[in-house]
This record gives sequence, structure tokens and C-alpha cells, in this order.
Amino acid sequence: MKESVLSVKNLTIQYKDAEEPVIKDLSFELQQGEILCISGKSGAGKSTIVWALLEMLEDYNAVAFGEIGFEGDVLHYQGTDLKKRKWNWRQIALVPQASMSGFNPLFTIGETMMEMLDVYEGKGRKAEKKQRIIELLDMVCLKNKVFDSYPHELSGGMKQRAAIAMAIMFHPKVLVLDEATTGLDLLIQAEVLGTILELKKKEDISILFISHDRELASNFCDRQISIQ
Ligand SMILES: Nc1ncnc2c1ncn2[C@@H]1O[C@H](COP(=O)(O)OP(=O)(O)O)[C@@H](O)[C@H]1O
Ligand SMILES: [Mg+2]
Repeated sequence: MKESVLSVKNLTIQYKDAEEPVIKDLSFELQQGEILCISGKSGAGKSTIVWALLEMLEDYNAVAFGEIGFEGDVLHYQGTDLKKRKWNWRQIALVPQASMSGFNPLFTIGETMMEMLDVYEGKGRKAEKKQRIIELLDMVCLKNKVFDSYPHELSGGMKQRAAIAMAIMFHPKVLVLDEATTGLDLLIQAEVLGTILELKKKEDISILFISHDRELASNFCDRQISIQ
């Protein structure tokens, strides 16, 4: 049997201003190397699950009950707010919903990625960092010249791939893609999905693919769970 990288047990999540929990008693496991899809219609709580996985519920005024296991460590949600993060977010990376429109138009893709490396690793070693960024772009099938491109010079699919390159910058164990292909036309969608499969071949990564599109999910993913 395959090893599980991420396990969610009896997870219940409620926004503080809501009468009912949005997620009720949800359990699932993400296994090593698989693409697991969480599907469900808009408003079902898919992104809310992502906030719980990334320990960001406080920012959204929500509380949770249940357990999330990662790397042999267990996070217990007991309704209370978490004051301190348990995990290094670099291990569980997110490509957020609508991330492709989130690039700062004033900076090139290379500058944006360089800034992120500078923040986490300190300034300096520019040439080495540039090389790493080029390799990341290559990993998502983007040409070197994208390093010097501004967001408006890229297609939606290319921007989405750049967002994926940013997310995998620190070689996460788990990559969470929230509506990664929503809003892209079918051809570009297929391209981005192809890129994700290529990436999985190159990196030892497990993927949680979140989508409202059940048909896409069943075609693309190894396994699918649906929420209401
Ligand atoms: N910050 C918030 N406060 C209160 N309710 C919220 C908040 N964010 C989302 N919700 C509600 O929680 C439900 C699930 O939202 P979401 O997780 O974004 O769904 P999905 O990603 O499946 O479309 C929706 O009904 C939404 O209105
Ligand atoms: Mg969502």
C-alpha cells in the first residue's frame, strides 16, 4: 500500500458568523505521488479546506475541529484559533484560486520570483538564484525569456504555469492547486494539465487538485472525492 503524505480526519470547519459548519466531518488521505481531486460545486467549501490545510483559518474568521496529519506530525484543531503555525508552508505549497491575475504588473516574472527568494534566503547570489528560477520555469515548460517578461506579455496559461513555478520554488512535498485551470479555454487548460503531469514526473510531489469541474477531475486525477 502507498504511504499517505497528508491525512485529514473528521475535519469540521465553521465560519464564525455562520450558523452551520461549511465542512462537516470530512476525512481523506493524499497518498505519495498521487493526484487527488477534491471536487464540489461552487460554494461547497473547497477553498475553505485549503485554508485549514495551510493553517490560515484565523485570517478568514473560521474555526475547525479535527485532525490533519503531515510528515508524521498531527495538527489538532479544537475550535480554538491557532496562534502559531505548526508547519513550514514551503512543504505544502499553494497555487491559489485566480493566482494568474495576482502577478504585480510592474515587475517581470523573474523580478517577482527573485524577490521571493531574497525574502526567504536573503539578498545576494543573484546569478545562482537566476539559474534556479530558469530551472523552475523550465520545469513548468516555460522558456528562459519568460524570466524577463511582464505578466501582460504572457497568455493566461503561461501565467498559470508561472504561478505553479513560484509555488514549487522550495520543492514542496505537497502541491495544492485551487481551481488551477478555471477560466482558461479548453486548449490552454489541457496545456496546463499537461504541464502538471510533466512536473510530477520530474519532482517527487503529491498533488491535491481542487476543482468544481467533476468531469475534468475524473479524467485528470488518480482519485476523486466529492464534497457537497
Ligand atoms: N470569510 C468568510 N466568512 C464567511 N463565510 C465565508 C467566508 N469565506 C467563504 N465563506 C462561505 O463559505 C462557503 C464556502 O466557500 P469556499 O470555500 O470559497 O467554496 P468553494 O471554494 O468550494 O467555492 C461559501 O458559502 C462562502 O460564502
Ligand atoms: Mg474556491
